[in-house]
Amino acid sequence: MKAKLKDGRTADVRAVWFADGRVQMIDQRELPGELVFVSFGDYREVAEAIRNMTTRGAPCIGASAAYAMALAKLQGADLEQAARDIKAVRPTANDLFYATDLMLRQLQAGADPVGAADAYAQDVVDRCTAIGRCGGALIKDGMKLMTHCNAGALATVDVGTALAPMRQAHNDGKKFFVYASETRPRLQGMQLTAWELGQEGIDHAIIPDGASAYYMSKGVDMIIVGADRIAANGDFANKIGTFDKAICAKHFGIPFYVAAPVSTFDFSTRTGADIVIEQRSEKEVTEIAGIRIAPVGSPALNPAFDVTPAELVTGGFITEKGIFKPSGIARMKA
Ligand code: MRU
Repeated sequence: MKAKLKDGRTADVRAVWFADGRVQMIDQRELPGELVFVSFGDYREVAEAIRNMTTRGAPCIGASAAYAMALAKLQGADLEQAARDIKAVRPTANDLFYATDLMLRQLQAGADPVGAADAYAQDVVDRCTAIGRCGGALIKDGMKLMTHCNAGALATVDVGTALAPMRQAHNDGKKFFVYASETRPRLQGMQLTAWELGQEGIDHAIIPDGASAYYMSKGVDMIIVGADRIAANGDFANKIGTFDKAICAKHFGIPFYVAAPVSTFDFSTRTGADIVIEQRSEKEVTEIAGIRIAPVGSPALNPAFDVTPAELVTGGFITEKGIFKPSGIARMKA
């Protein structure tokens, strides 16, 4: 992704990579204020970075986990224990489990640790590029799009899932506009998606989450979101607030698309009811910049994700294998 460095130069950076014997990543908690890079030499530190959201977004969590497994091997750690430690940090994103298990099998079979993790990260980027090619064709000149949370390059090593079709259409010279909803409480839409769209020069505006239906009523042509886990029947988990948007989109007859690589599909989870939803600290809701803004004594609930039923995915799933309706998932699996 393009990013402006402190010295004013524009560079091509990834959200996570391996160099100098360490896992390197963008500290996403510091954006959009500053582009800060951090590095880790112990797999447990990478696991902690996933837990505390230094790095985030399902495919990027997967790549970070792959690099954590590479570190575990280089450290001479017990690989099965490392895999358990890494998979314990966040419960919802399928890519965390997919990448960790894949790396465990490859390392046990004698793969080169960094080579295998690099190949995993590159595969994520290639899949996202293919998602961009598939989905980019859906975007026409003059369209108004809407997205939620951050399913951009930051969430996927590079390129993005929901943002991949937008990058592709922009590179193809198409002019369109994106509503990016702020995504309370962690503000990934405002702080990360708007930052990425700004770096690319894509026309956009941040809207409060509660303004989505209002802008849909004024005219939105298409909604594209990412996903953290997609069940075999097409129900999918994504950032809290996605479900509301899908219901509103159905009301207004706006096509609703989910962009995700095949690694986000969990064919062993039959329906959305079986997806574990991460519950995060209530302080993310009751505090702003560490200052309590809620009445003392009022508890808060903070589910990080919700589950949208497959029937609301009216546009389809944009994957690296093509675009599928929920009824076509079995065909995609085959
Ligand atoms: O809690 P996060 O920031 O890791 O959640 C990420 C999301 O839910 C994104 O919306 C995204 O769609 C899935 S990752 C491309």
